[in-house]
Amino acid sequence: MPQSTGCILWFTGLSGAGKSTLAGRVSSALRERGARVEVLDGDEVRENLSKGLGFTQADRDINIRRIGFVANLLARNGVIAVSAAISPYRAVRDEVRSKAQVPFVEIYVEAPIEVLEARDTKGLYKKARAGMIRNFTGISDPYEPPLNAEVVVKSAEESIETSANKILGYLEKRGLLR
Ligand code: ADX
Repeated sequence: MPQSTGCILWFTGLSGAGKSTLAGRVSSALRERGARVEVLDGDEVRENLSKGLGFTQADRDINIRRIGFVANLLARNGVIAVSAAISPYRAVRDEVRSKAQVPFVEIYVEAPIEVLEARDTKGLYKKARAGMIRNFTGISDPYEPPLNAEVVVKSAEESIETSANKILGYLEKRGLLR
């Protein structure tokens, strides 16, 4: 059975950009190739590991550090650890990268906020505009895009297959899939 070396796949992008969906698709493809994969999804982590945390910068940073810590533990044991949280702040993303004992692959899931707001799959952008949710990323809170992401996918323009193949192609090129 093909083996994979551990690494961290760190998805970042606005709410509704498609991080979880794409992370799920990539994870399935990796499992089909024999890799062990764990997904740390933003919404799920907030129900468990980070229950009780809010959306101030301090709370988001704690959330991201926790995900980074667990991802590193998994990845150094040969698992492909996949994070799918907004992770809006560049400094803490870079901190997690610098602490990682394994290859860290940042994947920017880019989509125009106008498109995400028009789609509003969870109805949260409307609530944020109405002032019912404060500190909402992209509306009333910052999102700092990566400056040097290993992979950039444009989820409003390309199909999920195209985006997933870009990521898998990158992992192959880096020698992270065997
Ligand atoms: S992060 O900033 O700490 O990385 P995380 O990915 O865990 O965020 O959670 C984001 C999800 O929480 C969003 O997809 C959305 O469903 C929900 N959410 C609730 N309040 C907010 C908010 N103020 N800003 C962004 N997302 C929010």
